[in-house]
Amino acid sequence: MKIISNPRELKNYLKEQKGSVGFVPTMGALHDGHISLIKNARTQNDIVVVSIFVNPTQFLAGEDLEKYPRKDESDKKICQISGVDVLFFPQVEDMYTDDEVRVVAPNVRGYTLEGHSRPGHFNGVLTVVMKLLNIVSPTRAYFGKKDAQQLNLITLMVKQMFMSVEIVAVDTVREKDGLALSSRNVYLTQEQRKEALKISSSLYLASNLIKQGVVDVEEIKTQMRKHLEPLEIVYVEILNRDFEYIKEVEVAKSIVLVEAIVGTTRLLDNLWV
Ligand code: PAJ
Repeated sequence: MKIISNPRELKNYLKEQKGSVGFVPTMGALHDGHISLIKNARTQNDIVVVSIFVNPTQFLAGEDLEKYPRKDESDKKICQISGVDVLFFPQVEDMYTDDEVRVVAPNVRGYTLEGHSRPGHFNGVLTVVMKLLNIVSPTRAYFGKKDAQQLNLITLMVKQMFMSVEIVAVDTVREKDGLALSSRNVYLTQEQRKEALKISSSLYLASNLIKQGVVDVEEIKTQMRKHLEPLEIVYVEILNRDFEYIKEVEVAKSIVLVEAIVGTTRLLDNLWV
């Protein structure tokens, strides 16, 4: 496995390679969710590139940029074992200078849900993903359904900016008890981890209601909110797959999303129903 930190060097190296390139952008502290993305990339491409970069522009002032988990050495080993060909490991100076051109998230879709609780967050995500995609020029790039709004906005950016990469959506990997894997789960105490299970179980509750024929969005949301008590709910929402508000669930075309704060940790989860 080659480890490269300079964008130009990576660009030049990849120019010399033949075959399709699968790319998995991450912020490190790799877990089985990330590994699932890498495995998908490995089976579908000749060359697999993973990036690890804790992107400062997607953290708002006062968020967890400083304490975001960093596990550089074990991450390198995980990449090696998972059959990654190139690990892109830039420093902030390699990716940003002062007074730069930025990508701006759309006014509505970029500022609802997580974009509402973290205004400007998606500008940072789209800016870094644009940079990364331009450096790697992959055939396919892999993103988790776990971050459904991020996935939706990146898909929109690629389409609206006429970029030629194919965006591949990968299913959410969960612990046996349902908790969605997240690098931020390490912040949870044992007690909080138990409370956090209410998030995934509220999604299963919604899914069961829909299976029983309940389609009224408000009714499902009310039952979910009750189920989530006493967690601090940031939002409970049911949208169509284009991230538009709906009054009735369209089966196999909707997403149920929850964001809640457990202790001081923001946790996101969703289920595609
Ligand atoms: P990060 O949180 O490290 O996630 C990297 C990728 O892994 C994202 O596409 C995310 O959706 C996916 N992922 C996370 N948890 C997952 C799970 N349990 N199952 C499946 N996939 C999962 O998302 C980011 O980094 C950043 O915003 C990034 C896109 C790298 C831009 O900085």
